[in-house]
Amino acid sequence: MINIEQKIKKRSSELLPEIINMRRRIHENPELSFEEFETANLISEYLQSIGIEHKKGIAKTGVVGLIKGRNPEKRTIALRADMDALPIQETNKLKYTSKNPGKMHACGHDVHVASLLGASTILQGLKDEFEGTIKLIFQPSEEKYPGGAKVMIEEGVLENPKPDVIFGQHVYPELDVGHAGMKSGKYMASTDEIFLTVKGKGGHGAIPDRNIDPVLIASHIVVALQQIVSRNAKPNLPTVLSFGRFIANGQTNVIPDEVKIEGIMRTFDEKWRAEIKLKLTKMAKGIAESMGGKCGVFIDQGYPFLINNEEVTENARTAAKEYLGDNFVHHLELRTTAEDFAYFTQKTPGCFYRLGVRNIEKGLNANLHTANFNVDESSLETGMGLMAWIALKELGR
Ligand code: NI
Repeated sequence: MINIEQKIKKRSSELLPEIINMRRRIHENPELSFEEFETANLISEYLQSIGIEHKKGIAKTGVVGLIKGRNPEKRTIALRADMDALPIQETNKLKYTSKNPGKMHACGHDVHVASLLGASTILQGLKDEFEGTIKLIFQPSEEKYPGGAKVMIEEGVLENPKPDVIFGQHVYPELDVGHAGMKSGKYMASTDEIFLTVKGKGGHGAIPDRNIDPVLIASHIVVALQQIVSRNAKPNLPTVLSFGRFIANGQTNVIPDEVKIEGIMRTFDEKWRAEIKLKLTKMAKGIAESMGGKCGVFIDQGYPFLINNEEVTENARTAAKEYLGDNFVHHLELRTTAEDFAYFTQKTPGCFYRLGVRNIEKGLNANLHTANFNVDESSLETGMGLMAWIALKELGR
């Protein structure tokens, strides 16, 4: 395997200019969730050019490819890259700044696609040297519900062949380029969106006895719901409940008829997640009714929490340490953001790990989902090589 590791490193270095070019082509033409038609064409043309059989049009714009080694039935490892951009206006001034107004690859999905294309070339070149099959999953719409992962699974992406293990790689601006990180077990949160409509009876603010004030009722609800986090959540189950929208459209002297409250909920346990929904609904409705009003509750179910299989993750960690060096692989903390890779990990043991892309000296340290996000592009060399190496190590187990 030492020989293979050196081959992967050599190929990653040779392929870097080509893969940077691919990343830039994707970066300057960002497409929103389930609209990744040109990105899919680019992926398909590239796979075609290196002789990898693949199918387009899975979950509308997804692409799935297969690299068969010797004895292809032995084991299958899936590698996933998400493809979509965000509705953000890019402020970076680059040769390859987004040409699509109001759209930007601000979450690094351009890097994920390009890295997986690089890994595909490397693995295709080594197919006589490993046993088993590599399944390449280019997934649309990670950023928007219901998420491309769920739709791809419904359309059979985890069958024929069925992957034994799946890996996903995501850029991480909190780690320097050349580094990687991962966490075994629960890693990212489930996500739900909450919509409350508090109804009262509006009227003149100076004669409150004739009204049912939904602003006061809604205020009580917002404060009371924090009890779920502070008094009902088990201390070992991190829970977030945040309300970012509170619309009471009256005037200084006009009490409105209704108030709208919107927010998010994040957890790391499916049973507790279901319990919160019941508690929250009961509390909001009960408070409104006790004060003479009503409260409508709508909860839009988002992604489940993401769990990294412990054995797979520890093996990936060992592989990453071999490839990058012990001091370049980090233990990560639980995160309250969400990822639809979680749907894959519900069906297939997997590991979602992070690729360092930060370079403070070059000023490349903006957060994900910001208008000036960018990466140190030498991370593509690590990204493609590490993914190929982790996949081959897992195949060889
Ligand atoms: Ni992302």
